[in-house]
Amino acid sequence: MPPRPEETLDPASWEELRAHGHRVLDELLDWLRTLRERPVWQPVPEDVRQALAQPAPREGLGLAGAWEEFERLVLPYPWGNVHPRFWGWVNGTGTPSAALAELATAVLNTNAGGGHQAAPYVERQVIDWCKSLLGFPPTASGVLVTGGSVANLVALAAARDAADREIVSRGVSAGQGPLTLYASSETHNSVDKAVRLLGLGHENLRKIPVTADFRLDLEVLRRILAEDRAAGRRPCCVIGNAGTVNTGAIDDLAALADLCVEQKLWFHVDGAFGALAALSDTLRPLVAAQARADSLAFDLHKWMYLPYDVGCVLVRDPEAHRRPFATQASYLARLERGAAPNDHDPGSLGPELSREFRGLKVWLLLKEHGVAKFARLVEQNVDQAKYLAGLVHRHRELELLAPVPLNIVCLRYHQEGADLDAINREVLMRVQERGIAVPSGTILNGKFAIRVAITNHRTVTADLDLFVEKVVEIGRAVSAESVRG
Ligand SMILES: Cc1ncc(COP(=O)(O)O)c(C=O)c1O
Repeated sequence: MPPRPEETLDPASWEELRAHGHRVLDELLDWLRTLRERPVWQPVPEDVRQALAQPAPREGLGLAGAWEEFERLVLPYPWGNVHPRFWGWVNGTGTPSAALAELATAVLNTNAGGGHQAAPYVERQVIDWCKSLLGFPPTASGVLVTGGSVANLVALAAARDAADREIVSRGVSAGQGPLTLYASSETHNSVDKAVRLLGLGHENLRKIPVTADFRLDLEVLRRILAEDRAAGRRPCCVIGNAGTVNTGAIDDLAALADLCVEQKLWFHVDGAFGALAALSDTLRPLVAAQARADSLAFDLHKWMYLPYDVGCVLVRDPEAHRRPFATQASYLARLERGAAPNDHDPGSLGPELSREFRGLKVWLLLKEHGVAKFARLVEQNVDQAKYLAGLVHRHRELELLAPVPLNIVCLRYHQEGADLDAINREVLMRVQERGIAVPSGTILNGKFAIRVAITNHRTVTADLDLFVEKVVEIGRAVSAESVRG
């Protein structure tokens, strides 16, 4: 049999790929430049969904053919978070130049899991920048992860193993009395997930009620801690919020830090987006006490506007950070010289070994724009939230459902005697379906709220004016329909 010709995935013609690459880049940049002209969101039609459920092609469509499929099936149906009027959940926008950084990341395609190469040094520099911007000491440890959820998981793994050194060898079930964690009822569900994944059991995450401003009630926390100790539980960690997902509430982080010192508890702060308020001189006092935490989780793909995905966790005690993750393996042996050794070893600081070079886009964007620009953008979003809250406050048919300490506004359309939950659900869906804006919904004190979370560098004040105008217009129409119907 004649030998099979050897193949590669490199192009047969680099010139053809170059021409395609230029076309693709032009098309994508045009798409970004003209975002405003398109609806924020539109549903994926049935025929497209069907096309996206087909089996893998046996033979390829070629470069142009595959790209055409992308243009037809993917490009028209994004989530919308790049659009100036996307304010749902807590999503970041990305930036055009960071997309180029992503291209460089993919071209290098380096495995940033360690080794003697530039990537770990770049990432360590990014982490050092984060420490200094958020008030953590230079001696702290840190790692870039996929996002806030994994950042919380890594931090709580360190907290768990610091509370009971036997866990690493004997597992969680061996100790006397359940390790117990404490967080406000407004805490993000990634903390529940982490607690469950770590084998701690969600019953052992005590959800402490909040006060009227959605901040953890310290008196209740003190009482429950005392009761739990008396009942033979082992309190190990308090989780504070620097910006809750629902309303942006910031727990009394200084008081929580004091309590944790007094009671020898690990103090973790979930600052997924709110931690970044520390970039701004004027907003920093709101979250300054996060610098006293044992660990701090935050996202750079939220309020640093970086493309997905990149989050970070900082841990004050480097040994505690490594404890859950560091293992010995002959195939990962470090030699004295050559490609393997490096003193920043992400594989020992989190669950991932092979990993993307996430730090490059952060590094390039910070070099391009400088910290001051990000600080101004964070302030801009906070000012926009205050502006929106003002519009809502002054409008007879709108109601604010929570204080606005940061960048989140929770509101609803209001008509005396109407079923406000049903009306506001409908308003939210119509605002999204008409492509006007994408806020999200939540429930506060039993009331359905339309929730606007501004982590968007493209939003301008006029977008908020339009949003309010449309909510009122749709609210009136829905109320009239419900009266008639
Ligand atoms: C307060 C808070 N914590 C954690 C997370 C989870 O972050 P990620 O979605 O990046 O995993 C979020 C996400 O919105 C959040 O708002």
